Amino acid sequence: MGFMVWSDALSVNISEIDHQHQHLIDLINILHDAMKQGRGKEVLSVTLDELARYAVEHFAAEEKLMQKYGYPEFSAHKAEHESFIKKVTDFQNGFIAGKLLLSIEILTFLRDWTINHIAETDKKYVPFLSSKG
Ligand SMILES: [Fe+2]
Repeated sequence: MGFMVWSDALSVNISEIDHQHQHLIDLINILHDAMKQGRGKEVLSVTLDELARYAVEHFAAEEKLMQKYGYPEFSAHKAEHESFIKKVTDFQNGFIAGKLLLSIEILTFLRDWTINHIAETDKKYVPFLSSKG
């Protein structure tokens, strides 16, 4: 069993977004496996970079969709995305500077933030976007 597991309970009923969320979960699992296997700093750094890159891409896709239909809670939602990116950027910088180990606390943060964000914040736009077809 992976560190993070996708379930139908996390679905937002938009297959493109569900696939992106699944990929995000895969990347966190890959990062977790690499860390557990004691892989080198370089591997961890590349994987963390890929996670950051993909998160930016995914958030942009979600924000585009919300904006297209004038989702009323867009600003608050976008602010959550931004604070996540900021946190991951801090991890990357700290990691590169050698100040930070890629600890289980960081992995747990990534997992918990992602699950809570999908299950609560993302789920909130489901009825709105569904009504727009
Ligand atoms: Fe989101």
